[in-house]
Amino acid sequence: MSNDRGNFGSKIGVILASAGSAVGLGNIWRFPTETGNNGGAAFILIYFACVLLLGFPILIAEFSIGRHSRSNTAGAYRKLSPGTRWKWVGRLGVAAGTFILCYYAVVAGWTLEYICQAATNSFAGTSPQGFIAAFSEFTANPWRPLVWLFAFMLTTHLVVVKGVEKGIERSAKVMMPALFILLIILAVCSVLLPDAEKGLLFLLKPDFSKVTGNVILSAMGQAFFSLSLGMGCLCTYASYFRAETNLSRTAINVAIIDTMVAILAGFIIFPAAFSVGIQPDAGPSLIFITLPNVFQQAFGGMPFLSTVLSVMFYILLALAALTSAISLLEVTTAYLSEEFSMSRKTAARMATAFCTFFGIICSLSLGIGKDITLFGMTVFDVFDYVTGKIMLPLGGMLISIFAGWILDKQILWKEVSNNGTLKVHTYKLVLFLLRFVVPVSIGLVFINELGLFK
Ligand code: PFF
Repeated sequence: MSNDRGNFGSKIGVILASAGSAVGLGNIWRFPTETGNNGGAAFILIYFACVLLLGFPILIAEFSIGRHSRSNTAGAYRKLSPGTRWKWVGRLGVAAGTFILCYYAVVAGWTLEYICQAATNSFAGTSPQGFIAAFSEFTANPWRPLVWLFAFMLTTHLVVVKGVEKGIERSAKVMMPALFILLIILAVCSVLLPDAEKGLLFLLKPDFSKVTGNVILSAMGQAFFSLSLGMGCLCTYASYFRAETNLSRTAINVAIIDTMVAILAGFIIFPAAFSVGIQPDAGPSLIFITLPNVFQQAFGGMPFLSTVLSVMFYILLALAALTSAISLLEVTTAYLSEEFSMSRKTAARMATAFCTFFGIICSLSLGIGKDITLFGMTVFDVFDYVTGKIMLPLGGMLISIFAGWILDKQILWKEVSNNGTLKVHTYKLVLFLLRFVVPVSIGLVFINELGLFK
């Protein structure tokens, strides 16, 4: 089966496709939400530390495991450690990816609604309160978000069924630079708004008194989510990398691109939120309420420019979400098709049907089902919490233990150095981080959360 698995074509294609998986709603929607909920600049500094000390080594580990095994994520652990329970790490990853896609597709669907609203000039003349009301009314509507959820899942499905190499790689080459340019334009507009400095202070002046165990757990979960780590997504992509791909360089590039996009998103959202008087902890709705405000306030006098920029922004947001959703669906599809000898089409159909079904439940839980709660959270929030704060960090910890302690060191070295042809100065440091720093840090944060330190 592995001979029709395909490969990415070019170096830049590998970087942009992997960055396409990493850059998505996690950067532009979830990062500002988590930063807002966790007190601002101090959270961002902890986030940087998590990317560097935990994210980077796990990226290398996932890349090495994927490329060496040339298999889906569960198959990879089975091949590398046959007859052991390590295949469960891969299965945990497949489950995490599938659950993430269930609620991810709901939010991605919202971006499609906002493309239409922006295109039909519905933002014109709306007050900040009007945007809040419009967003609540839309997400609570029993059917409109579902139409967009179906549309988004169908598009993701069609790309995955056809085989993603040419589609993902080509679109990533166009979309990623375009997304970057637009983010910069919008950040400049946002920073120039009246009272924007309050938002900048929130982003740049750390208040460490607000740091708790939960803040660190959130930063860690966000780093994993944003880098698509802890669940074998980039491990699956790496199984399509070429033998000559430089894994460390690809990992550094992906981490830098992903972090820069998240920070730029912060520079758009917070100055704009403070400028229009919205609390930074307004929750997941932040981007759907504050951004229309930015377009309105910054370009209200130039309706054509306002429309063009807002339509382009939501299109790019949808496409960023699409490249990430494709990578999520690819994990489940590759798993089903390779482990259960199904055709790619059947596997993708089953994965899409499952995610759409639970996506419907997540979507309805924000409207007619909002009173059904578990530990005080809606179904939507439960999916986000369980995947982001439990499954991904746990997966990250197990992956680091596997790569650091179980996997034959020769395999890791050969993958990182491309069979000894590359000089990799960071190899020893990465191994040290994987063996000690990653498992211990994640373990401590978990123990703290369970209250065992108190
Ligand atoms: N990294 C993506 C984002 O930031 O939106 C989301 C994601 C994609 C998470 C793929 C996990 C994953 F495996």
